[in-house]
Amino acid sequence: MSETVSFSEYGDIEGLEVGQAPSAAPGPGEVTIANRAISVNPLDWMVVAGYLKDMVPLQLPAVPGNESAGVVEAVGPGVTSVAVGDEVIWSGFGGGYRAEATVPEATLTLKPKTIDFEQAASLPIAAGTGYAAVEQIAVTSDDVVLIHGAAGGVGSVAVQLAVRRGATVIGTASEKNHDYLRSLGAQPVLYGDGLVDRVRAIGTVTASIDAFGGAGSIAATTALLADLSRSVTAVSDEASQRAGIPALIHPDDQLARVVELAAEGAFTIEVSERFALADARQALELSQGHHVRGKIVLIP
Ligand SMILES: NC(=O)c1ccc[n+]([C@@H]2O[C@H](COP(=O)([O-])OP(=O)(O)OC[C@H]3O[C@@H](n4cnc5c(N)ncnc54)[C@H](OP(=O)(O)O)[C@@H]3O)[C@@H](O)[C@H]2O)c1
Repeated sequence: MSETVSFSEYGDIEGLEVGQAPSAAPGPGEVTIANRAISVNPLDWMVVAGYLKDMVPLQLPAVPGNESAGVVEAVGPGVTSVAVGDEVIWSGFGGGYRAEATVPEATLTLKPKTIDFEQAASLPIAAGTGYAAVEQIAVTSDDVVLIHGAAGGVGSVAVQLAVRRGATVIGTASEKNHDYLRSLGAQPVLYGDGLVDRVRAIGTVTASIDAFGGAGSIAATTALLADLSRSVTAVSDEASQRAGIPALIHPDDQLARVVELAAEGAFTIEVSERFALADARQALELSQGHHVRGKIVLIP
């Protein structure tokens, strides 16, 4: 048996239940892992709420969670890429909030020993998206890049990778995160009224990454950036599309590249909040507030 967080109906996170579920022995092409860290993303409560149910229907009851890192406990017939004892990163859709998980071999990537489990669990979605954004707009050392939501999981990785390319980076955040953004090499600005003027006072924006979304970010991007083909949003919606801001496209090699970059020390992920797996509801409540610095992880 293994601790599992699940929901029986789409709706509020109050409906999440903590229980013990039987651990399935791995079948052909499957691997059982003991999770050491499970990453929490805004996507998780969106899935629980049913926002994606028409696109990706889940069989209920379902287990939220889309990325984790752990140790291989058992392998099924035909598994060749991992062995018992290997440290791995799992990336999938649903099923992450459990202490032990039996998953397809193809959803696993070997975890470099130099990356801890909490960092590793946070690589596929947040770091991967930050990486993909910097790639998509091809940031160079000539750029002045505006990054909305720069202190979040996606934004903080985008900041570090853009700085690494030699760009001048302006990042939006609340005051409490300004020192953090400076420590990453960005020039912090407060979001909200007057954002456009505050950014203009720093420089002429040549590229933009929206890692937060919403009307304020969209308006600032369109006011500050002459060539919107040098912008990208991780939060594509009708408003951003109407404004002409391209949606982020995930490259096929995203996870492999982001694991390499993390192993090289190209960026680090700030894990600012840790919860026991059984406290997943509180973790998701915090995520719904949209003011987490870096990442939240669950520890089974
Ligand atoms: N397209 C994709 O594949 C993809 C993948 C991953 C994530 N996403 C989306 O990308 C967004 C970012 O995700 P995330 O995981 O980084 O976490 P998040 O919880 O959405 O972002 C947290 C950060 O947002 C900042 N923030 C709050 N209000 C803001 C505002 N008005 N303007 C600018 N920043 C603000 C907070 O900084 P302060 O505390 O300083 O306010 C905090 O650091 C989410 O909407 C998520 O759903 C999309």
